[in-house]
Amino acid sequence: MRLDKYLATHSDASRTLAKMAIKSGRVEVNGEVVKDQGRKLKAEDKVWVNGRELAESSEVYLVMNKQAGIICATQDEEQDTVLDFLDGYTHRELHIAGRLDKDTTGLVLITSDGQWSHRVTSPNYKCEKIYLLETILPIQETYVTEFTNGILLRDEVKPTKPAKLEITGENTARLTLTEGKYHQVKRMFGAMGNRVTKLHRESVGGVSLGDLAKAGFRELTEEEVKSF
Ligand code: URA
Repeated sequence: MRLDKYLATHSDASRTLAKMAIKSGRVEVNGEVVKDQGRKLKAEDKVWVNGRELAESSEVYLVMNKQAGIICATQDEEQDTVLDFLDGYTHRELHIAGRLDKDTTGLVLITSDGQWSHRVTSPNYKCEKIYLLETILPIQETYVTEFTNGILLRDEVKPTKPAKLEITGENTARLTLTEGKYHQVKRMFGAMGNRVTKLHRESVGGVSLGDLAKAGFRELTEEEVKSF
């Protein structure tokens, strides 16, 4: 990876600030001042800024706007994974905080911080995940109460936690969950004798997609990280 990019992805500095730091001689690689922004780094290179080594331990928090066809896995021999789209965050081992199905689009959180992702995904923390969906059959008013009361899905021992269903059209709705069982949205509608044909996650806790491009990603702000 280029030195300026490494700085921008391993610190709070923007790419512009990183370039300025390099130009002004404040960046060392393996003990030597380097003023070449495009210097290619090797995995074993040690980078220092203002006399301090860049913390290899700094955690990574990213949000991605996943497209259909991409899988939520860290590695796959044949299929594109969300991590294949991240350029530059190789200094930490990353994982996905709450997976989406291959055909589901929308917000995916990716991090190196296991405790943080536990707070995002554990039902104990009641973090809200909001989905927009379409179904093959009309959505009945009765689902609203069923989803609020909880549904015992097949192969589960406990019913789903109260979920808020807002019907937005004959076949469209917004659903808010505070947990993430396997294929939960599809199974909840399946239990109603219906089928989800389109599913999109628009927000998780205090993080929304906003105008993030399709298949694009960005770092979370400090405020967003702390909101979980
Ligand atoms: N529920 C599902 O059924 N699929 C997803 O991808 C996410 C939630």
